Amino acid sequence: MSFLSKSTVLLLLVLCCTSFTSTEAYDALDPNGNITIKWDVVNWTPDGYVAVVTIYNYQQYRHIEAPGWLLGWTWANNEVIWSIFGGQTTEQGNCSRFKGNIPRCCKKSPTVVDLSPRTPHNQKIANCCKGGLISSMVQDPANAASSFQLSVGSAGNTNKTVRIPKNITLNTPGPGYTCDPAKIVRPSKFLSADKRRITQALMTWNITCTYSHFLTHKAPTCCVSLSSFNKAIAPCPASSCGRRKNNTVSRGCVDPKSPHVPGPGHKNIITPLVQCTSHMCPIKIQWHLKLNYKHYWRVTIRITNLNYHMNYTQWNLIVQHPNFDNLTQVFGSKYEALTSLSTTNDTAMLWGIKHYNDVLMQAGRYGKVHLELLFRKDKATFTSKKGWAFPQRIYFNGDSCVLPPPDAYPLVA
Ligand SMILES: *[C@@H]1O[C@H](CO)[C@@H](O)[C@H](O)[C@H]1NC(C)=O
Ligand SMILES: *[C@@H]1O[C@H](CO)[C@@H](O)[C@H](O)[C@H]1NC(C)=O
Ligand SMILES: *[C@@H]1O[C@H](CO)[C@@H](O)[C@H](O)[C@H]1NC(C)=O
Ligand SMILES: *[C@@H]1O[C@H](CO)[C@@H](O)[C@H](O)[C@H]1NC(C)=O
Ligand SMILES: *[C@@H]1O[C@H](CO)[C@@H](O)[C@H](O)[C@H]1NC(C)=O
Ligand SMILES: *[C@@H]1O[C@H](CO)[C@@H](O)[C@H](O)[C@H]1NC(C)=O
Ligand SMILES: *[C@@H]1O[C@H](CO)[C@@H](O)[C@H](O)[C@H]1NC(C)=O
Ligand SMILES: *[C@@H]1O[C@H](CO)[C@@H](O)[C@H](O)[C@H]1NC(C)=O
Ligand SMILES: *[C@@H]1O[C@H](CO)[C@@H](O)[C@H](O)[C@H]1NC(C)=O
Repeated sequence: MSFLSKSTVLLLLVLCCTSFTSTEAYDALDPNGNITIKWDVVNWTPDGYVAVVTIYNYQQYRHIEAPGWLLGWTWANNEVIWSIFGGQTTEQGNCSRFKGNIPRCCKKSPTVVDLSPRTPHNQKIANCCKGGLISSMVQDPANAASSFQLSVGSAGNTNKTVRIPKNITLNTPGPGYTCDPAKIVRPSKFLSADKRRITQALMTWNITCTYSHFLTHKAPTCCVSLSSFNKAIAPCPASSCGRRKNNTVSRGCVDPKSPHVPGPGHKNIITPLVQCTSHMCPIKIQWHLKLNYKHYWRVTIRITNLNYHMNYTQWNLIVQHPNFDNLTQVFGSKYEALTSLSTTNDTAMLWGIKHYNDVLMQAGRYGKVHLELLFRKDKATFTSKKGWAFPQRIYFNGDSCVLPPPDAYPLVA
């Protein structure tokens, strides 16, 4: 008997997880989302060319956050980088074949990173120097691109002899994106500052990169707890993001009352250091049903940062709930419906208000953001039945959050 139920559970688990991974690469919420990298050759030089490289983020909600992007490629021949503006190569490599004038970078597979916003003005180019951050299309389209300019030597210097770089990689800094080979496209056109002259690139090639969560091999980073006005609660599922080892300072977890709690300014954004909790998630989201009026109902969402190593600048949430087509008002955040032809319009993107709560501060007193949603009840669909008032899906910064299992959802009535 118990064996039978165990194997049934196992089978269900296998079924759910296979369907989960097979739909993972295709994102129904953002079916055309991609990052396009454009190389514009703007000048030929005696031994190569000058190119402006721009990374465009065409994803609706997924952004690139601190510590920022890393762009790599492999040269087709023995090309070198003489100079670079608005970005930096991470390693010089072996330039011993040069005498006198030494290139910036002689590596066969160079890696470029962005410069910080504090870069002196005379070393900047348009769209550069944002510390590697690239906003998403919905959240801040004006900052959804990042550029640098490089002068390439030992390279072809006509459109017949130039060789296109191979094996382009985009890391953030972890994996997640796969890039297609570069394709020669129609040369870009540029409008001059006075809008009276159009110039054009000598040659342009595009590279399309797509995201797949499957490649990140990452444990979940966030979990959701549900609660309602009648005090019922479904907590974040235990071990959602990892297993807790013990109560003291262990690998990656700190008791908030311990003397080892890092103060502000403690920086190591790559590995999280979280408060010890049963779920071990760096981010916890609480969905609380606050009020149930005759014609409206109100939800509060509290996002808590439990990671001492990270301020989440430009955080965002994606929430799926059937009542979003009747959302009436949002307090404490910006909002846009994510409409799509392929899915019902039940999904919204929420993000912080600039200079108010767009930074979710590191764990501690200030590591919280609070917002509220007011929905108009649609008599045809509203029900206080178990589960209906709670979200079907929540993403934090594009990563799916672990929800309590449906049978744990609190009763509302
Ligand atoms: C990349 O995204 C843009 C904007 O959504 C879209 O127009 C373009 O077709 C996409 N490119 C590819 C190769 O999917
Ligand atoms: C650097 O390159 C030169 C040839 O260009 C080679 O002789 C030398 O061994 C290389 N040095 C290292 C450390 O790889
Ligand atoms: C190369 O340049 C020539 C003359 O400027 C032009 O006719 C030709 O179409 C270009 N070829 C490519 C592949 O851009
Ligand atoms: C492309 O890069 C990957 C990872 O760095 C490497 O494994 C692969 O061999 C490279 N392919 C080519 C053609 O350089
Ligand atoms: C190449 O990329 C640029 C920038 O994303 C885009 O405007 C252009 O349409 C792309 N060209 C092609 C042929 O996809
Ligand atoms: C906590 O775990 C660490 C490493 O896993 C271990 O060194 C330490 O002794 C443990 N502390 C207690 C109180 O169990
Ligand atoms: C978060 O921001 C605060 C205020 O700007 C700063 O003091 C702190 O060092 C930052 N924390 C991290 C982990 O970057
Ligand atoms: C969602 O909204 C868009 C734009 O408002 C509309 O074109 C589309 O048909 C809607 N989709 C559904 C399934 O209602
Ligand atoms: C809720 O939205 C749907 C779809 O937009 C609409 O048909 C319905 O009338 C709305 N209900 C209320 C109560 O506003």
